Amino acid sequence: MILKGKKTILRPIKLSDAPRFVRWMNDPEIIQYLSIRNPVTLEGEKEWIKSLKKNKNDIILAIDTDKGVHIGSIGIHRINKEHQRATLGINIGDKNYWGKGYGSDVFRSILKYCFGELGLHRVELEVHETNPRAKRMYEKSGFIFEGVKRQANLHDGKFYDNIVMSILKQEWEKKK
Ligand SMILES: CC(C)(COP(=O)(O)OP(=O)(O)OC[C@H]1O[C@@H](n2cnc3c(N)ncnc32)[C@H](O)[C@@H]1OP(=O)(O)O)[C@@H](O)C(=O)NCCC(=O)NCCS
Repeated sequence: MILKGKKTILRPIKLSDAPRFVRWMNDPEIIQYLSIRNPVTLEGEKEWIKSLKKNKNDIILAIDTDKGVHIGSIGIHRINKEHQRATLGINIGDKNYWGKGYGSDVFRSILKYCFGELGLHRVELEVHETNPRAKRMYEKSGFIFEGVKRQANLHDGKFYDNIVMSILKQEWEKKK
């Protein structure tokens, strides 16, 4: 599956992407925003990439720029057909590409896929309270503040809140 946006191309993750994931997933600056806490190995990432094909409830794609540079990944997780909902998770691991509109472009493509192709009614996500860039990108993409999971993530010995945001199909249709 390939989804083309204006600045990004979303494509299946390949085994040869593994070393970049290892680098990003061991970078403290990046993982502070994610739920991952344990060190990641090359073997572990290769196993994870192999397991993706068998996984029916998640769709995880690589993010390439329109020039073909692999900069991160986007996941549609916990796809629930009965309730027509899923949870998104994005990581742009290459920091040179932060704050330049790549995340917003990925979200335009992925929301179109979620509502248009997967037939979802609701897409949700969680964001750490300490991540204003992500919050801003989600708001720009049409996500609405829904609530707070109190002290849901532990970072450097301190608990932080997670903010829950969501977008419904009718809100996305009005926005596009
Ligand atoms: C969060 C992430 C996906 C956002 O993607 P991105 O390409 O950097 O975001 P965009 O450039 O499309 O949009 C970012 C917006 O936040 C704004 N922004 C950047 N830094 C900010 C800050 N410190 N405070 C408030 N807003 C900020 C930008 O100005 C931009 O808004 P604008 O277009 O109105 O000017 C990406 O930065 C990333 O993957 N970061 C590391 C991992 C992560 O945080 N993942 C999300 C976990 S919930």
